[in-house]
Amino acid sequence: MKPYYQDEQATIYNADSVEALAELRESFDLVVADPPYTTGIASFGEDTKASGWGDIMNSAHFNAAWLRECRRLLEAKQGAAWVFNSWRSLPVLARTSYEIGWAIKSVLVWDKEWIGPGGHQGLRPSYELAALFVHAGFAIADRGLPDIWRSKWSSVKPYGHPAEKPVALVGRMIRESGARRVLDPFCGSGTTLEAAKQEGATAVGIEIEERWCEVAARRLQQGILLTANNMLTVSGGREKTDA
Ligand SMILES: C[S@@+](CC[C@H](N)C(=O)[O-])C[C@H]1O[C@@H](n2cnc3c(N)ncnc32)[C@H](O)[C@@H]1O
Repeated sequence: MKPYYQDEQATIYNADSVEALAELRESFDLVVADPPYTTGIASFGEDTKASGWGDIMNSAHFNAAWLRECRRLLEAKQGAAWVFNSWRSLPVLARTSYEIGWAIKSVLVWDKEWIGPGGHQGLRPSYELAALFVHAGFAIADRGLPDIWRSKWSSVKPYGHPAEKPVALVGRMIRESGARRVLDPFCGSGTTLEAAKQEGATAVGIEIEERWCEVAARRLQQGILLTANNMLTVSGGREKTDA
């Protein structure tokens, strides 16, 4: 499999993660996965984000396909996987966990220190979740670490990805997990790759859309051009490897 981008610390594959993961043979000690949020709670109603039981099952099959591969790639180093989700998609992840027989060990509450729009009836959302899956030999070193972490979310997305996660949050996941070799099967704008770099770890990212590979690649390079609005200029030269 030919990398889209490669430097000393990061490799990006422009590919479907289910297919690409099956080809990987190296081992990792941490997966940070931020899959497309598939929604599950309620099969009816006005809320267009809600979907039906069939969708939960289809999404769980998709998750099972990539998470099973991640589990395999983490086995040699007895590593762990953080999987971002929300209260809407947690049921899908729970179904995935059951399908592959890999239990969720913990669920991290990411307090975004920000409140989103809440519609005209409910509460205003201020958190997301990340489920932790572990191999038997894995343990968070800090045995006093709680399951609610604060990390400021910003509506300004410097790299333009609608689901960009804070580098500080992902960096903390890497640090608290003691990881040196990280895999992100849905790397988007490259947050995990940048966080790994800052933590002195190496990382592999997989992203199906070439435009996000381009953003991530440029982000990893020195001298990224940010505009006056602190937004990445996406057009322009691209660094690809021929490896
Ligand atoms: C929630 S976003 C990840 C955002 C990322 N954490 C960041 O900070 O920029 C999910 C990403 O997965 C990508 N994606 C969706 N399906 C995929 C697949 N089958 N294989 C690889 N990437 C996929 C999407 O294009 C999207 O960029």
